[in-house]
Amino acid sequence: MFPAHSFPPLVIRGRSLLPVVQGGMGVGISAHRLAGSVAREGAMGTIASIDLRHHHADLVEACRAHPDRETLERANLTALAREITAARALSEGRGMIAVNVMKAVNAHADYVRVACENGADAIVMGAGLPLDLPDMTQAFDIALVPILSDSRGAALVLKKWMKKGRLPDAIVIEHPAHAGGHLGVTNLADIHDGRFEFARVLDEMQAVFSSLGLGRDDVPLIVAGGINSHDAVRACLAAGASGVQIGTPFAVTEEGDAHPQFKRVLADASPEDIVEFISVTGLPARAVRTPWLSRYLRHEARIRSKIGALKHACPAALECLSACGLRDGIEKFGHFCIDTRLAAALRGDVANGLFFRGREALPFGNAIRSVRDLLELLLTGTARPAVARHGAFSLR
Ligand SMILES: Cc1cc2nc3c(=O)[nH]c(=O)nc-3n(C[C@H](O)[C@H](O)[C@H](O)COP(=O)(O)O)c2cc1C
Repeated sequence: MFPAHSFPPLVIRGRSLLPVVQGGMGVGISAHRLAGSVAREGAMGTIASIDLRHHHADLVEACRAHPDRETLERANLTALAREITAARALSEGRGMIAVNVMKAVNAHADYVRVACENGADAIVMGAGLPLDLPDMTQAFDIALVPILSDSRGAALVLKKWMKKGRLPDAIVIEHPAHAGGHLGVTNLADIHDGRFEFARVLDEMQAVFSSLGLGRDDVPLIVAGGINSHDAVRACLAAGASGVQIGTPFAVTEEGDAHPQFKRVLADASPEDIVEFISVTGLPARAVRTPWLSRYLRHEARIRSKIGALKHACPAALECLSACGLRDGIEKFGHFCIDTRLAAALRGDVANGLFFRGREALPFGNAIRSVRDLLELLLTGTARPAVARHGAFSLR
């Protein structure tokens, strides 16, 4: 049993959960082990759907033998189905297993279908407006949770979905000034805009709900980005959020699915090491300034002016994104292969990987602790003393 805490439960589609959600983290950073361990504690654990083949030695081998788009896509869908099944087994029927799908990914509809068919409890969709998510999931009883950054985006999704007769089961409000990975703004200069402040969004959402004839509890709001202490959780819930979503602190837990070296890079990063830049998706992103990213950023302007407008064959053959700066020659986007870089980070390749990370300090400083310890600290303000354990990482 999870120790007593003073917060009301987060209720999603009738299920009572701990009010701390583990955010989806690709590529492979939140797979079955992290999501299943979080769910086992009674919270929502999230598998990031993108490119999960990297976790499965047999699928990696099959893709090496036939490096064509069809084989890669099939391998990713097989891997997602396996990860959902494994996470469900690990959760022992507690909490919820969500699948995070990025709208900007070409195969997003396939990922949604496989998640639904393999018993995921929720789809959490970001990196683009999930206007057609209710249509994609019509035949399934599954919670739907859009990720947005301001009340305008949330109001738009609510209105469109209500016309289809569906309400989101919750909405994640992610703050671009604090979160890790891709950020929900069109340009870097907007990151600190006041419209993203949690208190303001939560306030504005009250007005949106009343204008649509909805009650405050009809759609729980979950805030995400930089929440790193019990006091921060308390402040968010006191301001009207029904839950908080946490990313980076879960990525570095013992159960996190990435290589231990990945966790070290995130945990040891100092504030000056964390940078924002334009990703190949065209969205700003936040990551640790590791050797590859340093080099890329040093040459970014030159790369952009020399080859920015040239189209390239997709180096991974996957064509993972519907719009990719490198493949499509979109000058103002980033110009690198995101699948290759994120997969290198997952393997702990510090020299070559792209290591997404949120902006803020971590709850346990640079210590690697368990999911249980993290949840306890966030919900009760205290954690058990650390126990020495070894992180495990292997291709399955
Ligand atoms: C390594 C990493 C990878 C991420 N990948 C994704 C992703 O694939 N999809 C997504 O919606 N959000 C992604 N995020 C965002 C997290 O789910 C989460 O909302 C955010 O990081 C919260 O901020 P925090 O890290 O300060 O807690 C990622 C974050 C990190 C740190």
